[in-house]
Amino acid sequence: ATPERRERFYTKRRRTMTTSLTEALKRHFGFEKFRSKTQEDVVNAVIRGDKDVFVCMPTGAGKSICYQLPAVLAEGITLVISPLIALIQDQVDRLKSLNIPACSINSKLPVGERRLILADLGSSSPKLKLLYITPEMVASPSFQPCLTDLCSRGLLSYLAVDEAHCVSQWGHDFRPDYLKLGELRARLAGVPCLALTATAPKNVLEDIIKSLRLRSPLSFVTPVFRSNLNYDVIFREMLPNPYAHLHAFITKALDDSTNGQVGGGCGIVYCRTRDGCETVAHQLTKLGVLSKPYHAGLKTADRTEAQNEWMQGKVPVIVATISFGMGVDKANVRFVAHWNLAKSLASYYQESGRAGRDGLPSSCRTYYSPKDKEQLNFLIRKEVVRKQAKRGTEKESDKTAITDFEAMVSFCMQEFCSHSAVRDYGPSSI
Ligand SMILES: Nc1ncnc2c1ncn2[C@@H]1O[C@H](COP(=O)(O)OP(=O)(O)OP(=O)(O)O)[C@@H](O)[C@H]1O
Ligand SMILES: [Mg+2]
Repeated sequence: ATPERRERFYTKRRRTMTTSLTEALKRHFGFEKFRSKTQEDVVNAVIRGDKDVFVCMPTGAGKSICYQLPAVLAEGITLVISPLIALIQDQVDRLKSLNIPACSINSKLPVGERRLILADLGSSSPKLKLLYITPEMVASPSFQPCLTDLCSRGLLSYLAVDEAHCVSQWGHDFRPDYLKLGELRARLAGVPCLALTATAPKNVLEDIIKSLRLRSPLSFVTPVFRSNLNYDVIFREMLPNPYAHLHAFITKALDDSTNGQVGGGCGIVYCRTRDGCETVAHQLTKLGVLSKPYHAGLKTADRTEAQNEWMQGKVPVIVATISFGMGVDKANVRFVAHWNLAKSLASYYQESGRAGRDGLPSSCRTYYSPKDKEQLNFLIRKEVVRKQAKRGTEKESDKTAITDFEAMVSFCMQEFCSHSAVRDYGPSSI
């Protein structure tokens, strides 16, 4: 074949592949097209399967499709590692509603269901496409034989590690069990691995590649900047009536989104303490915006109810501690307000990134208070000292908590200084 003919052949094949992938995306997931070029490129790279893949795309960019679509199109089963059962449940439910055979084996699973899943996995051609597990499960002796069996029969198509930053001690969400994934990776040597995260500064990225033992991975890293999110910082102590100020921010964010229609949007207010959640929710409701608190001090049933009502749009505002939100995938979140400072820039990025997942304009605001800053500073340093005392030694990574927090504070200062000239803090402001 001449080079021209070969080129024509490959162009044609690429075109066919692209159309059939877009068709498959539509058929299985109901999406008209890929959300971005990167999303499509990643799917292609995963399907090619000759190299491991590392993906860093912003929150809400559609990373799940990067392994879900290849999983659906592959012969065997894709093993997905994800840090939280709640997060897994959410994804499994969504896949099932699309008629995609997915399930999870976890500690909460009733014995009967577990037996059914294991029977399917043990059969000569399992129906399951996606199997979600937590890293704890990976290490559990009860699950090992099943995994070894699948691998030896060549039934594992891909290994996807979601929220891969959890493997790094430099990250903001370190989970020791994620470290066990390196061993898993080594045992599944022939299976292409895909690691995904929304936040990966250089040292976290290096940790991910090293710990998961990725083999010279193809990296897809898109800028963290999201043009539909508008960020600002307000000094809380300078406000005569902070709750009214928050209320005005919320009504504006929600009004902008609804264009006069009812039920158009919702939002999250993050508070550090349970009392804070209760007070802010109460004040906002009193001012006319129905708001419910969400924190670990509530009964599980009440917490679930608050989350469901918010998800269904019955309650527009949830006032929560950071225990709320990981894996919550709601399209029309029009604002995320931090009543208290986030503990690091990375966590702020994750938390505020829950706004505007539908790509429409949304607002992210921090209400900064120096007193609040001092308290948090104290707590963070106390935690570092506690960890060191427990361990008996110091570690370089201990300092990250402190430097990350300082980065958050300086972000607030910069934001505030660059905008305060145009903002009216006089008596006429609320
Ligand atoms: N091609 C597409 N077209 C339209 N919507 C899409 C497409 N791909 C994904 N989405 C939607 O985008 C939203 C975010 O997707 P997903 O949960 O995969 O984001 P993510 O990148 O994993 O974010 P996070 O870092 O917060 O986990 C979902 O509601 C999903 O249905
Ligand atoms: Mg995700």
